[in-house]
Order: sequence, then structure tokens, then C-alpha cells
Amino acid sequence: MKPDMSVNLAGIPLRNPVMTASGTFGYGEEFSDYCDLESIGAFVTKGLSLKPRAGNPTPRIVETPGGMLNAIGLQNVGIDAFISKKVPFFRSVDTPAIANYFGNTVEEYVEMTRRLDAIPEVAALEINISCPNVKQGGIVFGTDPDCAASVVGACREATVKPLIVKLSPNVTDIVSMARACEDAGADCLSLINTLTGMAIDLNRRRPVLANITGGFSGPAFKPIALRMVWQVARAVKVPIIGIGGIMNATDALEFILAGATAVQVGTASFISPNAAQQIAADMEAWLAANNVADIKDLIGALEV
Ligand SMILES: Cc1cc2nc3c(=O)[nH]c(=O)nc-3n(C[C@H](O)[C@H](O)[C@H](O)COP(=O)(O)O)c2cc1C
Repeated sequence: MKPDMSVNLAGIPLRNPVMTASGTFGYGEEFSDYCDLESIGAFVTKGLSLKPRAGNPTPRIVETPGGMLNAIGLQNVGIDAFISKKVPFFRSVDTPAIANYFGNTVEEYVEMTRRLDAIPEVAALEINISCPNVKQGGIVFGTDPDCAASVVGACREATVKPLIVKLSPNVTDIVSMARACEDAGADCLSLINTLTGMAIDLNRRRPVLANITGGFSGPAFKPIALRMVWQVARAVKVPIIGIGGIMNATDALEFILAGATAVQVGTASFISPNAAQQIAADMEAWLAANNVADIKDLIGALEV
């Protein structure tokens, strides 16, 4: 019997729980020759902002043991070019497209929310709150529960679409951040974004990245992500998307057991552009081989 792989993510029906992670899959179209988008649950766009951004100077990516650091600097085409050049492709794919976005003030986040809310081809919104609030001395929205709640609450009022809030791991207490976002109106939480790290070139006695620090991702940080998903899943009622170092179906199923309803695949797509498709197929094969009729039976089914 073919297992039922479908899940419902805050009102969005997904054919399976495997999504792509923001910033690692372009705007979907760039990967469509290599990955069958209609074999995955959903795809998430590169983080979008009101104005186009060129991003940081290079070098802005470096491989590290078991992972990578990036300091892309949120390069993106901006909302106007997104609407005119990227959204038309979404009509040709029968898979939900999720828009990831950010701002540097609450007002910018709200304006982005309004603009994205008006696009019928966008199934849901994912707010990246790992950005500095320029009006509050540069404090990162996602590292202070009050700051996070203020931006999530304001965005909540600006959209009727499902609102996913993407949490930063650069905090001491992920559960209080998750609760603050849920209380402020998030329909779903995705976690985790990258963890701040750095790499040094000994011979040049300089940082490798032009930006000095960057976001760490990949298999070496999966245990941290898994721990945070497990902690948050026990503390909130909204569904969770597990993200962090998912390289194969085993990793993805571990996140589901820890309490995630869906997962996002990021760094793995740089190694194999059809990683998400392969992971979805391998998860289904695992369920069939282990007589699990419905993926939903595994969500949060970890025995502790
Ligand atoms: C090159 C690169 C660019 C990223 N850009 C974004 C972004 O624009 N917005 C965002 O919310 N997350 C961004 N991320 C974070 C990923 O979506 C994901 O949370 C993180 O990489 C952890 O998952 P992974 O270990 O599977 O890569 C980026 C990650 C990488 C590696």
C-alpha cells in the first residue's frame, strides 16, 4: 500500500512534508530543470525586500567541516521585480509557492506583508525575523521576544494568508521566542535559521568571509536544530517546520518524530539540486518498508 504522505500546514495542503529552504532554491524556476517541483510539498523563495539588494561583497560562502558559512547579505530582486518576473512561473507549477521576506523596520515588514498578501500565486508568507531593527539600535527582531512579537503582530494584521514565522537560533531561550510569536498571531513556526559563525584563513591572518561572520548551516548543526524543534514542539500548538542540516530521508523523519509537521531542505540542494525530491521519495519508501500507512502518525511520535 502506498503511504499517505500528505500533511496540512496551517491550512495549506501539501502532497508531502518536504519543502525547500529560503535562499537555497532561488525563486523555484532556477531549479525546475533539476528538481521536479511537483514531487515536493512546497518551495520557498529567496528572502525578499521592498527594494532590490546586491548583497555583501565576496567571498561570501565558505565550506567548513560538515557545513558551510554564508554571508550573502540577503541579495534579492526586490518586490516589484519579484511580482513582474518571478511570480508568473508559479502559475505553471501545481505546488504551493511560499514567499520569504524581511525588513529593517516594523513598517517595512508590514508593507512587504501587504504587497505579498495581494499576490494570489503566493500560498503563504514566511517572515525572516533574523534581521536588525534599525529603529531600535540594530537589535535583531528574532532575538528579543517583545521585538519579535511587535513585528509578528503587525504583520498578522496585514495578511489573511497563513503566516509562518522563521525563528533564529541565536538566542538562549528558543521556547520563549516561539511562544511570543505564537501569541502574536503566527500560524506556523519554522526553525531554525542559520547560526552565526566565522572562519579564519591562518596564512593570510584574515577572516575568510568579507563580512567576517556568516550564517552556519549544514549537517554539523542538525543536532542543535533537532533539539530546538523538539523543545518548541512541546511548548506551542501551531504546526512547526523543521530546518537544519537535513541531508536525507532519515534526517527528515527524525525532525517529524521530534514534532515537525513539515521540513525544509537547504544546504543539501547545493550538493544535489534534486535533494528535496529524493528525500521525499526516500521518506515514502521508508514508510512503506516500515508499514506506516500515514506520515501524520509519525508527527511528534518520539518516545521519551
Ligand atoms: C546561501 C544561503 C542563503 C540563505 N538565505 C536565506 C534567506 O534569504 N532567508 C532565510 O530566511 N533563510 C535563508 N537561509 C537559511 C536557510 O533557509 C536555512 O534556514 C538554513 O540554511 C538551515 O538549513 P540547512 O542546514 O538545511 O541549510 C539561507 C541559507 C543559505 C545556506
